[in-house]
Amino acid sequence: MIFEAKCSLFHEEVWVMVKSKGKFTIRKATINDIDKVIYINRVSLPENYTRYFFVEHLNKWSNAFYVAEVDGEVVGYVMSRVELGWGITKLGLVKKGHIVSLAVLEKYRRKGIGTALMKAALEGLKNYGVKEVYLEVRVSNTPAIRLYEKLGFVKKRIIPSYYLDGEDAYLMVKPIQ
Ligand code: ACO
Ligand code: ZN
Repeated sequence: MIFEAKCSLFHEEVWVMVKSKGKFTIRKATINDIDKVIYINRVSLPENYTRYFFVEHLNKWSNAFYVAEVDGEVVGYVMSRVELGWGITKLGLVKKGHIVSLAVLEKYRRKGIGTALMKAALEGLKNYGVKEVYLEVRVSNTPAIRLYEKLGFVKKRIIPSYYLDGEDAYLMVKPIQ
Protein backbone atom coordinates (compact mmCIF):
# COMPACT_ATOMS: atom_id res chain seq x y z
CA MET A 1 0.00 0.00 0.00
CA ILE A 2 1.70 3.21 -1.05
CA PHE A 3 -1.07 5.64 -0.10
CA GLU A 4 -4.02 5.39 2.23
CA ALA A 5 -6.28 8.25 3.25
CA LYS A 6 -9.41 8.42 5.34
CA CYS A 7 -11.38 11.59 4.57
CA SER A 8 -14.66 12.98 5.78
CA LEU A 9 -16.82 13.93 2.79
CA PHE A 10 -20.31 15.24 3.53
CA HIS A 11 -20.18 13.39 6.87
CA GLU A 12 -19.38 10.15 5.04
CA GLU A 13 -16.15 8.34 5.75
CA VAL A 14 -14.38 7.34 2.56
CA TRP A 15 -11.12 5.43 2.25
CA VAL A 16 -9.14 5.98 -0.91
CA MET A 17 -6.32 3.52 -1.48
CA VAL A 18 -3.68 3.24 -4.10
CA LYS A 19 -1.74 0.00 -4.40
CA SER A 20 0.76 -0.70 -7.11
CA LYS A 21 -2.04 -2.80 -8.62
CA GLY A 22 -4.61 0.05 -8.91
CA LYS A 23 -6.75 2.63 -7.14
CA PHE A 24 -10.01 1.93 -5.37
CA THR A 25 -12.38 3.59 -2.92
CA ILE A 26 -14.13 2.05 0.07
CA ARG A 27 -17.35 3.75 1.22
CA LYS A 28 -20.52 2.91 3.11
CA ALA A 29 -23.16 1.18 0.98
CA THR A 30 -26.41 2.98 0.17
CA ILE A 31 -29.75 1.71 -1.09
CA ASN A 32 -28.66 2.68 -4.63
CA ASP A 33 -25.88 0.06 -4.45
CA ILE A 34 -28.12 -2.88 -3.57
CA ASP A 35 -28.81 -4.13 -7.13
CA LYS A 36 -25.08 -4.18 -7.92
CA VAL A 37 -24.31 -5.86 -4.59
CA ILE A 38 -26.90 -8.55 -5.39
CA TYR A 39 -25.32 -9.02 -8.82
CA ILE A 40 -21.80 -9.38 -7.37
CA ASN A 41 -23.10 -11.85 -4.78
CA ARG A 42 -24.82 -13.97 -7.47
CA VAL A 43 -21.78 -14.18 -9.74
CA SER A 44 -19.30 -14.76 -6.89
CA LEU A 45 -20.92 -17.12 -4.41
CA PRO A 46 -23.42 -19.99 -4.30
CA GLU A 47 -24.89 -18.49 -1.12
CA ASN A 48 -27.50 -16.01 -2.38
CA TYR A 49 -30.16 -14.11 -0.48
CA THR A 50 -33.38 -12.22 -1.11
CA ARG A 51 -33.33 -8.50 -1.85
CA TYR A 52 -35.14 -8.02 1.48
CA PHE A 53 -32.23 -9.65 3.32
CA PHE A 54 -29.69 -7.21 1.82
CA VAL A 55 -31.92 -4.19 2.46
CA GLU A 56 -32.57 -5.32 6.05
CA HIS A 57 -28.82 -5.48 6.74
CA LEU A 58 -28.32 -2.07 5.15
CA ASN A 59 -31.11 -0.55 7.25
CA LYS A 60 -30.09 -2.15 10.56
CA TRP A 61 -26.28 -2.22 10.35
CA SER A 62 -25.39 0.41 7.75
CA ASN A 63 -22.10 1.20 9.54
CA ALA A 64 -20.85 -2.31 8.79
CA PHE A 65 -21.98 -2.58 5.14
CA TYR A 66 -19.35 -1.29 2.69
CA VAL A 67 -18.76 -1.26 -1.04
CA ALA A 68 -15.56 -0.87 -3.08
CA GLU A 69 -15.53 1.31 -6.19
CA VAL A 70 -13.14 1.43 -9.13
CA ASP A 71 -13.67 4.28 -11.58
CA GLY A 72 -17.13 4.92 -10.10
CA GLU A 73 -18.25 1.27 -10.49
CA VAL A 74 -19.06 -0.92 -7.50
CA VAL A 75 -16.81 -4.00 -7.72
CA GLY A 76 -17.11 -5.53 -4.24
CA TYR A 77 -19.03 -5.47 -0.97
CA VAL A 78 -19.00 -6.67 2.60
CA MET A 79 -22.24 -7.12 4.55
CA SER A 80 -22.29 -7.69 8.31
CA ARG A 81 -24.63 -7.78 11.26
CA VAL A 82 -24.52 -7.46 15.06
CA GLU A 83 -25.86 -10.28 17.23
CA LEU A 84 -26.19 -10.99 20.93
CA GLY A 85 -25.09 -14.52 21.78
CA TRP A 86 -22.74 -16.81 23.65
CA GLY A 87 -19.16 -15.71 23.22
CA ILE A 88 -16.87 -17.85 21.08
CA THR A 89 -13.67 -16.45 22.60
CA LYS A 90 -15.27 -14.63 25.55
CA LEU A 91 -17.32 -15.86 28.50
CA GLY A 92 -21.07 -15.33 28.72
CA LEU A 93 -23.44 -13.33 26.54
CA VAL A 94 -21.63 -10.89 24.29
CA LYS A 95 -22.28 -8.60 21.35
CA LYS A 96 -20.81 -10.33 18.32
CA GLY A 97 -20.10 -9.07 14.83
CA HIS A 98 -21.00 -11.49 12.03
CA ILE A 99 -19.46 -11.10 8.58
CA VAL A 100 -22.37 -12.40 6.52
CA SER A 101 -20.99 -12.01 2.99
CA LEU A 102 -17.88 -10.69 1.26
CA ALA A 103 -17.17 -10.71 -2.48
CA VAL A 104 -15.08 -8.91 -5.09
CA LEU A 105 -15.68 -9.24 -8.84
CA GLU A 106 -13.16 -11.69 -10.30
CA LYS A 107 -11.46 -9.09 -12.52
CA TYR A 108 -10.62 -6.92 -9.49
CA ARG A 109 -9.26 -9.58 -7.13
CA ARG A 110 -5.72 -9.64 -5.64
CA LYS A 111 -5.56 -5.84 -5.47
CA GLY A 112 -6.21 -5.54 -1.73
CA ILE A 113 -9.91 -4.74 -2.12
CA GLY A 114 -11.19 -7.69 -0.07
CA THR A 115 -8.80 -6.82 2.75
CA ALA A 116 -9.81 -3.14 2.68
CA LEU A 117 -13.52 -4.04 2.76
CA MET A 118 -12.93 -6.33 5.74
CA LYS A 119 -10.94 -3.66 7.60
CA ALA A 120 -13.78 -1.17 7.10
CA ALA A 121 -16.37 -3.70 8.33
CA LEU A 122 -14.22 -4.56 11.37
CA GLU A 123 -13.96 -0.88 12.29
CA GLY A 124 -17.71 -0.41 11.82
CA LEU A 125 -18.47 -3.47 13.96
CA LYS A 126 -16.04 -2.29 16.65
CA ASN A 127 -17.94 0.99 16.80
CA TYR A 128 -21.15 -1.00 17.44
CA GLY A 129 -19.37 -2.33 20.55
CA VAL A 130 -18.83 -5.94 19.51
CA LYS A 131 -16.34 -8.00 21.51
CA GLU A 132 -15.58 -10.51 18.77
CA VAL A 133 -16.25 -10.99 15.06
CA TYR A 134 -17.01 -14.34 13.45
CA LEU A 135 -17.80 -15.81 10.06
CA GLU A 136 -18.28 -19.12 8.29
CA VAL A 137 -16.22 -20.03 5.23
CA ARG A 138 -16.09 -23.15 3.02
CA VAL A 139 -13.19 -25.41 4.05
CA SER A 140 -12.09 -25.40 0.37
CA ASN A 141 -12.05 -21.58 0.08
CA THR A 142 -8.30 -21.06 0.47
CA PRO A 143 -8.23 -17.44 -0.86
CA ALA A 144 -10.80 -16.26 1.68
CA ILE A 145 -9.29 -18.29 4.57
CA ARG A 146 -5.84 -16.75 3.88
CA LEU A 147 -7.32 -13.26 3.78
CA TYR A 148 -9.15 -13.81 7.09
CA GLU A 149 -6.05 -15.29 8.76
CA LYS A 150 -3.98 -12.29 7.68
CA LEU A 151 -6.55 -10.11 9.47
CA GLY A 152 -6.21 -12.10 12.70
CA PHE A 153 -9.12 -14.53 12.39
CA VAL A 154 -8.47 -18.07 13.61
CA LYS A 155 -10.24 -21.31 12.74
CA LYS A 156 -12.25 -22.18 15.84
CA ARG A 157 -14.01 -25.35 14.68
CA ILE A 158 -15.56 -27.14 11.73
CA ILE A 159 -19.32 -26.95 11.19
CA PRO A 160 -20.17 -30.21 9.39
CA SER A 161 -22.33 -29.99 6.23
CA TYR A 162 -22.95 -26.28 6.79
CA TYR A 163 -23.61 -25.59 3.12
CA LEU A 164 -26.54 -26.81 1.02
CA ASP A 165 -24.23 -28.93 -1.16
CA GLY A 166 -22.91 -30.68 1.97
CA GLU A 167 -19.53 -28.93 2.25
CA ASP A 168 -18.23 -28.21 5.76
CA ALA A 169 -17.51 -24.70 7.02
CA TYR A 170 -14.79 -23.35 9.26
CA LEU A 171 -16.08 -21.13 12.00
CA MET A 172 -13.46 -18.37 12.16
CA VAL A 173 -13.29 -15.76 14.89
CA LYS A 174 -11.33 -12.65 15.80
CA PRO A 175 -11.46 -11.14 19.29
CA ILE A 176 -11.88 -7.34 19.41
CA GLN A 177 -9.96 -5.36 22.02
N1 ACO B 1 -5.08 -17.60 -3.67
C1 ACO B 1 -4.36 -17.54 -2.54
N2 ACO B 1 -4.43 -16.51 -1.63
C2 ACO B 1 -5.29 -15.53 -1.91
C3 ACO B 1 -6.08 -15.50 -3.09
C4 ACO B 1 -5.94 -16.60 -4.00
N3 ACO B 1 -6.66 -16.68 -5.12
N4 ACO B 1 -6.85 -14.40 -3.07
C5 ACO B 1 -6.55 -13.73 -1.93
N5 ACO B 1 -5.61 -14.41 -1.24
C6 ACO B 1 -5.00 -14.04 0.05
C7 ACO B 1 -3.60 -13.56 -0.21
O1 ACO B 1 -2.85 -13.81 0.95
C8 ACO B 1 -3.82 -12.05 -0.41
O2 ACO B 1 -2.70 -11.28 -0.18
P1 ACO B 1 -1.62 -11.05 -1.40
O3 ACO B 1 -2.42 -10.68 -2.64
O4 ACO B 1 -0.77 -9.94 -0.89
O5 ACO B 1 -0.92 -12.36 -1.55
C9 ACO B 1 -4.86 -11.79 0.67
O6 ACO B 1 -5.72 -12.94 0.65
C10 ACO B 1 -5.67 -10.53 0.46
O7 ACO B 1 -6.22 -10.53 -0.83
P2 ACO B 1 -7.11 -9.30 -1.36
O8 ACO B 1 -6.53 -8.83 -2.66
O9 ACO B 1 -7.32 -8.31 -0.28
O10 ACO B 1 -8.51 -10.07 -1.62
P3 ACO B 1 -9.47 -9.93 -2.90
O11 ACO B 1 -9.82 -8.53 -3.17
O12 ACO B 1 -8.92 -10.74 -4.01
O13 ACO B 1 -10.80 -10.65 -2.31
C11 ACO B 1 -12.13 -12.58 -1.87
C12 ACO B 1 -10.75 -11.92 -1.70
C13 ACO B 1 -13.21 -11.64 -1.35
C14 ACO B 1 -12.15 -13.87 -1.04
C15 ACO B 1 -12.33 -12.88 -3.38
O14 ACO B 1 -11.44 -13.91 -3.77
C16 ACO B 1 -13.76 -13.33 -3.73
O15 ACO B 1 -14.63 -12.52 -3.95
N6 ACO B 1 -13.97 -14.66 -3.76
C17 ACO B 1 -15.28 -15.19 -4.12
C18 ACO B 1 -16.30 -14.93 -3.02
C19 ACO B 1 -15.85 -15.50 -1.68
O16 ACO B 1 -15.28 -16.58 -1.59
N7 ACO B 1 -16.14 -14.74 -0.61
C20 ACO B 1 -15.85 -15.14 0.77
C21 ACO B 1 -16.86 -16.13 1.24
S1 ACO B 1 -16.90 -16.34 3.04
C22 ACO B 1 -17.95 -15.08 3.59
O17 ACO B 1 -18.51 -14.37 2.77
C23 ACO B 1 -18.14 -14.88 5.07
ZN1 ZN C 1 -22.67 -16.51 8.60
